[in-house]
Amino acid sequence: MSSPSPLPQPAKDIVLDTSTLPASSTASVWDRISKWVSENKAIVYTIAGVAVVVTSAGVVYYLSDSNKATKTAAPTEKKKSKNQRRKEKKKAEEEKKAKAATVQDESTAKKAEEPSDELPEVDEATVGQLSEETRKAYAAKLKAAGNKAFGSKDYNKAIDLYGKAIICKPDPVYYSNRAACYNVLSEWEKVVEDTSAAIAMNSEYVKALNRRAIAYEHLEKFSEALLDFTASCIIDGFSNETSRVALERLLKKVAEQKSKTILAAKGKKLPSPTFVSNYLQSFRPKPLPEGLDESADLSEDSGKGQLRKGFLAMAKKTGDGYEEAAAAFEKALELGDLGDFEALALNMRATFTYLEGDAPTALNDLNKSVELQPSLVQSYIKRASLHLELGNKDAAADDFELAITHNKDDPDIYYHRAQLHFILGEFADAAKDYQKSIDLDRSFIYSHIQLGVTQYKMGSVASAMATFRRSVKTFEDVPDVYNYFGELLLDQQNFAEAIEKFDKAVEMEKQSKPMGINVLPLINKALALLQWKHDFQEAENLCQKALIIDPECDIAVGTMAQLLLQQGKVSQALKYFERAAELARTEGEIVNAISYAEATRTQLEVQEKYPQLAARLQSMGAGLGGGF
Ligand SMILES: *[C@@H]1O[C@H](CO)[C@@H](O)[C@H](O)[C@H]1NC(C)=O
Ligand SMILES: *[C@@H]1O[C@H](CO)[C@@H](O)[C@H](O)[C@H]1NC(C)=O
Repeated sequence: MSSPSPLPQPAKDIVLDTSTLPASSTASVWDRISKWVSENKAIVYTIAGVAVVVTSAGVVYYLSDSNKATKTAAPTEKKKSKNQRRKEKKKAEEEKKAKAATVQDESTAKKAEEPSDELPEVDEATVGQLSEETRKAYAAKLKAAGNKAFGSKDYNKAIDLYGKAIICKPDPVYYSNRAACYNVLSEWEKVVEDTSAAIAMNSEYVKALNRRAIAYEHLEKFSEALLDFTASCIIDGFSNETSRVALERLLKKVAEQKSKTILAAKGKKLPSPTFVSNYLQSFRPKPLPEGLDESADLSEDSGKGQLRKGFLAMAKKTGDGYEEAAAAFEKALELGDLGDFEALALNMRATFTYLEGDAPTALNDLNKSVELQPSLVQSYIKRASLHLELGNKDAAADDFELAITHNKDDPDIYYHRAQLHFILGEFADAAKDYQKSIDLDRSFIYSHIQLGVTQYKMGSVASAMATFRRSVKTFEDVPDVYNYFGELLLDQQNFAEAIEKFDKAVEMEKQSKPMGINVLPLINKALALLQWKHDFQEAENLCQKALIIDPECDIAVGTMAQLLLQQGKVSQALKYFERAAELARTEGEIVNAISYAEATRTQLEVQEKYPQLAARLQSMGAGLGGGF
C-alpha cells in the first residue's frame, strides 16, 4: 500500500480548544459559558432582574431570589434588616394571597354542601330582568352546584351550571372552573377559551394561567405555553416547583421544535474558520503524497487534480479556502479515476461533510475509505470522532483498536484516543495516551498542551505548570501554548499573568502570516477582565474585535450574548443568541442556543403583555443585588 495519511497541514498556527475533543471542539461554547457562570460563584445572571441559572444540562431556568440569597455572602447588618423586612412583607403578602386563593376554592366546597335542588332557572333572555343582587346570589348558587357536579365527576352538568353562573355574573373563577371541566374532558380549545376569559378579567390569575399553559401544551402551541408558565412563575415568585419544572420542559420543547426548523433550512454549510481549523489541525501535518504534489502534472478536470486543489485550498486556512476545498473534494469523487487516492478522497470528503454537520453521510464515506485502504488509519480515527459525536463511545473505542492493528506507531491514534478518554473524564488514561503520542512524535504541540491540561484536571497543578513552562520554551512561536497556559492561570485566578499570556497569543496571531484567525485568546481575555475587574465595556470590545476577525465564531457570539444579558441589554442579547443558533453546527448546540434565545424572548414578551409584571421583575432584580 502506498504511504497513508498524506495530509498537508502547516504545523504553525494550529488551534485546538482543549476543553473538548477536536471532533467536537467548539461544541464547548456552552460548556465554557456554563462553566464560567458556575465558577463565578454568583451562578446567576439576570434577565431584566430575574435570576437565571444554567443547569448542568446547559438549560436555562429561572430561579427565585430566595435561592440566590443562600448563595451570596451575608449581607451587612443594615442590609440584612432591610432584606428581612422586604422578605417578611413579601411573605405576608404571599400568605394573604394564598389564603385568598384557598378561600376562593373552599367557598365553593362549602357551598357545595348546600342543597342544590332548587336551582334558579336563568338564560340570556331572562337574566336582564333580575336585580344586581339576585344575579349575584344566583351565580353563587349555580357555581356551588357546579362544584358539586364537578366533585361527583359529572363534568357536563358542571359545565352547564358554570355557564349559567357566568350568565348571571361573569367571574374569572367561574371561567376557570369551567375550564377545569374541559381539561378533564381533554377539550383543549375550550380550556384555552375559558382560561383566556378568566385571565382577561384577572391577569394575575395563576391557576388559570397554568391551566391554559397545560392546554396549549396539549395543542402543541409550545411558545404560548412557555409564555403562560413564565408569567405564572413570575407572579408567584417562582415558588411553585411544578410550574418551574414545566417551564423548563416547555423551554426544551420550544427549543427542539425551533431547532428542527433551523436544521432543515440550514442545508450544507461549513462552520466558522476557527472551528474548521480546530478540527483539521488536530491531525499532524503531512506533506502532499507523491503523485499529488506540485511536480505532478495534473489537470483540474481530473479527480486527482481536484484532490490536490482541495488540499492546496485547505492550506490557505481561510473561510473561502475551506469552501473551495469542500467543493474540490466533492468534485474529485465525481470525476473519479483516483486510483490509489480514492480512499484518501473519501476521507477528505467525509471530513468536510462531517464539519457541515451531516454525520451519516460522512460515516458512509469513511466506511468505504477503510474498506478500500485499511492502512489509512486516519479514516478510523475520524470515524471514531463521528461515533463519539453520535454518542456511541464503544464504537469509537473499537475504531481506535482497529487503527492500532493497522499501524500501532501512528501518534495521531493515541492523541485522539486520549481526547476520547479526556471527554469521558478518564484523565489517567488520557494522560497515558498523550504521553504515548508525545513519545512517538514530540513535535506536535497539542499533545503537550493537552497533557498539561489533563494533569491540571487530575489535580497535579505543579506538573501541569511544568509541562506548560517546558512547552512555552519548545514551541515559543505557537500562540496556542500561551492561550492555554493563560486558561490555566485564569482558572487559578491569577488574572494578571493570565492576561499577559492572552495578550501574547493575540499579538502572535496578529503577526503571523497569513494573520491568525484563532480568536480564542481575545475571548479569554474578555472573560478574564470580566472576572477580575467586572469590566463589561472592555469585554464587549474584545468580543467585537474577535467578531471582526471571525464573524462566524460561535464562541464569540455566545459570549457577547451573555455579556449583554448580564447588563440587562435583553433585546440585544436576544439577537446574539439567535445568531448563535444560526451558527451552531449540531442539533444539540442549536437546541442550547435556542433555549437561551427563547428564555430571553419570553421574558421580553411577558413584560410587553403584562406591563405590571415588568415592575415586579425589576424589583426582584433589585432584591438580587449586584448579581455578578
Ligand atoms: C403549582 O402549579 C401547578 C401547575 O403548574 C398546579 O397544579 C399546582 O396546584 C400549583 N401548586 C400550588 C401550591 O399552587
Ligand atoms: C459504517 O460502519 C459502522 C461501524 O463502525 C457501522 O456501525 C455503520 O452502520 C456503517 N454505516 C454505513 C452507512 O455503512
